[in-house]
Parts: sequence; structure tokens; C-alpha cells
Amino acid sequence: MSYWEFVKARTATEGAVWRSTDGLLYKRTGGEDLRAEGEFQQLAAGSGYPVPEIVGTGWEDGEHFVVERSLGASSLHEEALADVRRDGQISSGTLSAASAVASCLLRAQARHPLPATPWFGKAAFAAEVFEENPDFETPRVHEAVERALDRLARLPMVHGHLDYGLPNVLRGGVIDWQHHGPVPLGYDVCPALDIVAFRGRGQGSYRITPEQRAAYLDALDETAAALIGLPVSEHLGDFLLVKCFFFLARMRPTDPARQDKYIKWQYRRALFARGLDQYESGGAIDTGAFPALDRFAAEHR
Ligand SMILES: Nc1ncnc2c1ncn2[C@@H]1O[C@H](COP(=O)(O)OP(=O)(O)O)[C@@H](O)[C@H]1O
Ligand SMILES: [Mg+2]
Repeated sequence: MSYWEFVKARTATEGAVWRSTDGLLYKRTGGEDLRAEGEFQQLAAGSGYPVPEIVGTGWEDGEHFVVERSLGASSLHEEALADVRRDGQISSGTLSAASAVASCLLRAQARHPLPATPWFGKAAFAAEVFEENPDFETPRVHEAVERALDRLARLPMVHGHLDYGLPNVLRGGVIDWQHHGPVPLGYDVCPALDIVAFRGRGQGSYRITPEQRAAYLDALDETAAALIGLPVSEHLGDFLLVKCFFFLARMRPTDPARQDKYIKWQYRRALFARGLDQYESGGAIDTGAFPALDRFAAEHR
């Protein structure tokens, strides 16, 4: 008999994550959202996605719960941080694990295509972004989005994670499917190393070199070429334009006294504006050129 230890409150939804004392299981608690997340994860597991096996679900004290097997003790984000503390850079072992899990997800996604369907609004949290940043709702922004969506229409639609990134990737697969929704193939995995830049490069972050990013994308292109005959990395700029929205969603602070949150919101607005400029001028977005949050904050206080 094992007991549950509290891990953390869930980031973007009600509920919490718990780990069994023997470390073999994780339990999430929550509401209706969690029930949908668990159902999706069951479906994904049945389709060969690299996701934790669900071993129990139910209701307890008015809350839904889902119990799944552990995929390991640390995420690739934690591994990357340990690498950097040890040798000043991310190890090739961590990066090859990132390519391996990404390729595995890409294969499972490509094997289960969906009919064409609108996807941008959900993946980008577009309604929230425009509500919190009404000055960004301009013909110029809509044109850039239309251009990206037109280009992406050549890729098959698949079930996506939407919040794919190293914190949700373990050597054994991908956790935390709360946001899941339809996406063009490659949307999750292609920008996974680039999006580290949106976090601001402070404490608890790391730099990924251009060579490391290129090697990761080459591996994904090879996988995608075998699946659909197209290199998905050609769409990195299109995917990153959508990520500029995603990382701006729910950033506007409701409490005007929270200067730290205000700066972080302004920072993401600046990244959105910069990403848009770059996308318009060549279809690519160079996240390596994004400013660090502390430098931005020093200039904008
Ligand atoms: N199946 C699992 N295997 C290993 N670790 C897990 C598993 N599920 C959750 N975790 C750990 O719990 C943390 C929080 O879970 P997650 O679902 O990502 O919550 P959040 O929605 O807050 O991001 C993860 O970062 C990871 O460390
Ligand atoms: Mg998570």
C-alpha cells in the first residue's frame, strides 16, 4: 500500500498532481477538464502515442481523478538544467532523447490523420490574446495569420498536445495532455527547442545552440520525410508565429500592483511584435535573437 505525496497544483487548470510514495504512479485530480484529458490520453495510448498508461480513473470527494504510470523521475527540462549545471551546456544525450521522443510522437500522429478542421483559435488561445491585447487585433496581424494558415494547409491535421516542450517530455514519453487539440503535423515537436526563448533565459533556463537546434530539426525532417514526404522544419516560422500567440495568452495581470507580472506581459508583447516583424519580412522567426527577460525588464522599468 502506497500513499500520495503532493507534487504541485496544476498550472492552467484546477486540481493537483500527486506521486505515489514508491514513485511508480502519478495521480491528477480536477474537474470536467481532467475527465476529458484522461479520455483523450486513453485514446492516444490506444493509437500508439508515447503517453503514460492510465491505470485508474474515478470520482473522490467531488473531484475526478486519473492515475497513470510514471514515465521516469525527471523531465528533459530537468535533465537539461542538470547538464548545464554540470558542464555549462545541454548534453548530446538529452538532445538525442528529445529527438527520439519527438520522432515517436510524430510517427504516431502521422498514422492517425484527422479531417481538415479549424485549429488556430484553440492552439493559439487567439480569443484570449485579442481580448487582453486589443491593439494587436489589426488587419496586419490577421494577414500574417492567414499566410501561416495557408502555408500550413499542406500538412495533415493530427491530434496535438499544444503545450509540448521539454518540461512535459520524459525519456519514456509525453505527459500533461490538458490542452490537446487538432494541429498540423509538426506543430508540437518542431518548435520545442525554440520555445525555450519565450521563458526569458533567466534562472531555470538554458541556451540551446543553433547547431543543436539544426540537428534536432534534421532528425524530425528525416522522420517526416518518411511519413509524408515533406520536411516539417520548412514550417518552423509558421509554427512559431502561432507560438507567439500561445505565449502571450493569459499574461495580462488583473492586479495592477503586480509589477513583475506586468513586465512579463510586456515582454511577451514585445516578443509577439518582434516575431510578427520577422515573420513578415521573410517567413522565419529567429528565437535566438529574442532579448533576455532581465535585460528587457531593466530597460522598461
Ligand atoms: N506520468 C508521469 N511520469 C513522470 N512524472 C510525471 C508524470 N505525471 C506528472 N509528472 C510530474 O509532475 C509534474 C506536473 O505534472 P503536469 O501534468 O505536467 O502538471 P502541470 O499541468 O502543472 O504542468 C511534471 O512536471 C512531472 O514532474
Ligand atoms: Mg506540465
